[in-house]
Amino acid sequence: MTTTIDGKAAAAALTAQVTQAAAAFRGEAARAPGLAVVIVGEDPASKVYVGAKGRTARDCGFHSIEHALPKDAAESDVLALVERLNRDDAIDGILVQLPLPAHIDAKRVTQAVAPEKDVDGFSFINVGKLGAGDIDDALVPCTPAGSMLLIESVRGRDLSGLHAVVVGRSNIVGKPMAQLLLQANATVTIAHSRTADLAAVCRSADILVAAVGRPEMIKGDWIKPGATVIDVGINRIPAPERGEGKTRLIGDVEFGAAATRAGAITPVPGGVGPMTIAMLMANTVAAARRRRKLPAHVWRLAS
Ligand code: GUN
Repeated sequence: MTTTIDGKAAAAALTAQVTQAAAAFRGEAARAPGLAVVIVGEDPASKVYVGAKGRTARDCGFHSIEHALPKDAAESDVLALVERLNRDDAIDGILVQLPLPAHIDAKRVTQAVAPEKDVDGFSFINVGKLGAGDIDDALVPCTPAGSMLLIESVRGRDLSGLHAVVVGRSNIVGKPMAQLLLQANATVTIAHSRTADLAAVCRSADILVAAVGRPEMIKGDWIKPGATVIDVGINRIPAPERGEGKTRLIGDVEFGAAATRAGAITPVPGGVGPMTIAMLMANTVAAARRRRKLPAHVWRLAS
């Protein structure tokens, strides 16, 4: 029997834990955890994501602020805002939504965020801590951290003896995902567009994480029977069957065929996506507690 992993329910459970932890933090620190989200320009998908992040932060009882800058904002204006947020004691987490307009150097901006407020986990300090296995002291990128909680809920925390294959080598998902799996004792392969016989590599995966951004690229018959399949892809494709000009979201995995072989699989939508925002909230509480030198909270989903 295949389990379809309910990312919405998992995200709701994590958000409930975060809401409790935020209330406890308010008691300990006499202020709410603070999250600042910065958006530059009018990218429609980014606006939707940023709106959802702000809403969820308020629902969790955070001090939540959003800065929307025009698409022609100068890089120096974005950097000045980040510097101001770095110095603002009421702000524990800073997220600059990507992509940024082409005239702004995204690396310069993401690296300007103070590492202790870097709830995206993009600063080289946090990347280095994760790579060195210093996970308890790192802020870990939200999508892989959320995916890892889903994997733990199916497979437990110790992945000794299991082969995990991550398809995709991005800094935001593929590489940090591989580090987390390695930290949990999995044997890890990172595959990508230049990998020879990708099908064979995928067929050897007990845990398969697809993060390539290509609709249904991972075929159903590439799935090892019983494997745990985590589909990070969110691809918008035309859906003329729903009416003219309509679209729908699909993942990187051919879900229907893969679900006949997998032990557990995340759907798209409703899988990893909701966990990403919930994990951002968890990272914000983690950052707030660390800045106040309070003991860390451990996030877990029921298995
Ligand atoms: N745009 C798409 N995904 C992300 C993310 O995880 N963080 C930020 N800052 N921007 C994104």
